[in-house]
Amino acid sequence: MLKNNEIDEILITEGEIREKVIELGGKITRDYQGKDLVFIGVLRILKDLDETIVGKDVLVVEDIVDTGLTLDYLLRILKSRKPSSLKVCTFLNKSARRKVKIKVDYLGFDIPDKFVVGYGLDYAGKFRNVPFVFTLNPEIYKGELK
Ligand code: IMP
Repeated sequence: MLKNNEIDEILITEGEIREKVIELGGKITRDYQGKDLVFIGVLRILKDLDETIVGKDVLVVEDIVDTGLTLDYLLRILKSRKPSSLKVCTFLNKSARRKVKIKVDYLGFDIPDKFVVGYGLDYAGKFRNVPFVFTLNPEIYKGELK
């Protein structure tokens, strides 16, 4: 369970996330009405797709775009497979750290250049299950927090 002294600052609350998910879900539903959309979620780059995306409308769903290098690599591979369209949806975006240009079509939240956890994002396998996004007490990185 999350301890109070593990939190440095809450950046995005559970309520804000809920509202954004509804908003983005509505937008994507409207934009792709009548189309057969393929969502691609990135877990590990090692596992390839199970189905062809030739001629399909594809939406890549990311947790966070930081330098953009991971996504840039992935988009190049997907593009070479000739989908009908290829767009990007990301929950979080750290534009300050970008090293390559990435067009984000659907964005949850822009965040500052800070390491964040919660709502699927982890540090050393922890905090992924927390329903909001926050920065960690710096003592955690030093291993000094009891
Ligand atoms: P990029 O190639 O630098 O854009 O890396 C993106 C990946 O780095 C994300 O999919 C995350 O796995 C990880 N990452 C980047 N920033 C954070 C963060 O603040 N918290 C947790 N993971 C992060």
